[in-house]
This record gives sequence, structure tokens and C-alpha cells, in this order.
Amino acid sequence: MSNAGDTATIKEQQAARTRQVMSTHEKDERWTAVDKYALKHLHTADSPYYSAIEKALQLSEEKGLPSIEVSLLQGKWLQTQCQMIDAEHILEVGTLGGVSSILMAASGPNAKVTTVEVDPERVAVAEEAIANAGLSDRVQVMTGAGIDVLPRLRQQVESGSRPKYDFIFIDADKPNNLNYFNESIRMARSRACIIVDNVVRMGRLADDTLVETDVGVSGARQVIQAAAKDNRVLSSTLLQTVGEKNYDGMFIAIVK
Ligand code: DHB
Ligand code: MG
Repeated sequence: MSNAGDTATIKEQQAARTRQVMSTHEKDERWTAVDKYALKHLHTADSPYYSAIEKALQLSEEKGLPSIEVSLLQGKWLQTQCQMIDAEHILEVGTLGGVSSILMAASGPNAKVTTVEVDPERVAVAEEAIANAGLSDRVQVMTGAGIDVLPRLRQQVESGSRPKYDFIFIDADKPNNLNYFNESIRMARSRACIIVDNVVRMGRLADDTLVETDVGVSGARQVIQAAAKDNRVLSSTLLQTVGEKNYDGMFIAIVK
């Protein structure tokens, strides 16, 4: 098959995946309306990185990436979390089109993001969006599966050739959530913040009948249950969210 054919097939698969994700979400128009209202005031033409973020969202759509990145308001929430702890060294697992990478890098002039993405097509989109934002010198996109790249990063942190991370956002293949969490703790400074996306999944988290069949639920449960017993963790909590990306939530842990 030609390259163009491959690309068309991948795009069709991604579109089908997005349709499936969206159709299984319980939509409430108030959630979208509130996101729109808030963004109208909080994300305006004179906001920092406004056009870079708009361009990143547009690129993701044009290139047919699945619309599963954090919502813009959630991305801005991640940005505020980075600002609260003055995060300089930020790690992201799951770059997609780079929207959250840009928002976290834009949290402050000293913020630097290492972001890991397995899909080269997504890496290309993210790198274009990051370059357009003028952030290529502060965002390093690493191509590869998190399960391969994170241990390499961790070895660099352990050997002192890479600084420990202040803030870590895990938003990649859900079955590896716990692996990513364990690697993350090992490269995190004391009081670092680790956030895991998509742990609530429209409430499926609490449905015991799904543990065997839904890798999203088992991936979320594994990380929550392990973190609760982990004596390297100072405290942790779970934040349920609604919005234009519907009902989901994030797990938040602080490292001792
Ligand atoms: C999916 C993944 C995500 O990271 C997300 O935020 C929403 C959906 C998914 O794979 O379905
Ligand atoms: Mg996500």
C-alpha cells in the first residue's frame, strides 16, 4: 500500500476511534456551555500564547489526530498547577499534538518540558505546533513508547545528567499507567506533583464488573490502589471533572 493509503487508513481509524469515544460519553450541554463561557473570558486574543494554542488545536484537527487531548480549560488548569509549584522540570507521557505540552511550557519562562510520544505522526504535529509557539528550545519531544523511554530518562536522572522532575503528567496508553507512575516517582523531586489523566471514565472507575474487560478502568485502578499504599507518596486524591470533553477525572499524587 502507498504512503498516502497508509495515512488515509490511519486517519480513518483515528476518526472512528474519536467517534466511538465521543458517542459513548454522556453529554450535557451545560458542561460545554460553561467551558465556552469561561474560555471566552480566560482565553482571549491578548492571552499569552493565544495564537500558538489556537494554531496547535487547528493543526491537530487538520492532521486528523483524535480529539482526545485535555480540554483547553483542563490544560490551563495543568498550567496553574505548574505555576503553583514554580515547576521548572516537567515530564509528560503522551504528547499527542502538543497542546498540553505548550500550555505547561508556557507556565513560566523557566519551565522546560520533556514529552514522550510513541506515534511519529503525532510527534511531527506536536513539533510543528511547538515550533510555531516558539518553544522548541524548552520542549523536548522524545519519540518512543513510554515503557522504553521512561527507564532511559530515569537512568539519566539517577546518573545526574538530567534534573529531577517537579511536575509529571501521565496521559498515554492506560494499561501502562502504573508502570509510568512507578518510573515517574523514581525521577521526581521531593514534593513533586504527579497527575494521571482519564481515571474516572464517565464513572466506569467504580464499576467492578469492568475490571476484567476495560483496560482504562484496570489501568486507573492499578495506579490509584498502588499509590494509596506506596510509602513514597505523601498524599493523593482524585478530581472528577466535567466539561466539553465530558465526564472524567484526574488522579493527583504528591511525592514525599
Ligand atoms: C482517550 C485517551 C485520553 O488520554 C483522553 O484524554 C481521552 C480519551 C482514549 O484513548 O480513549
Ligand atoms: Mg487524556
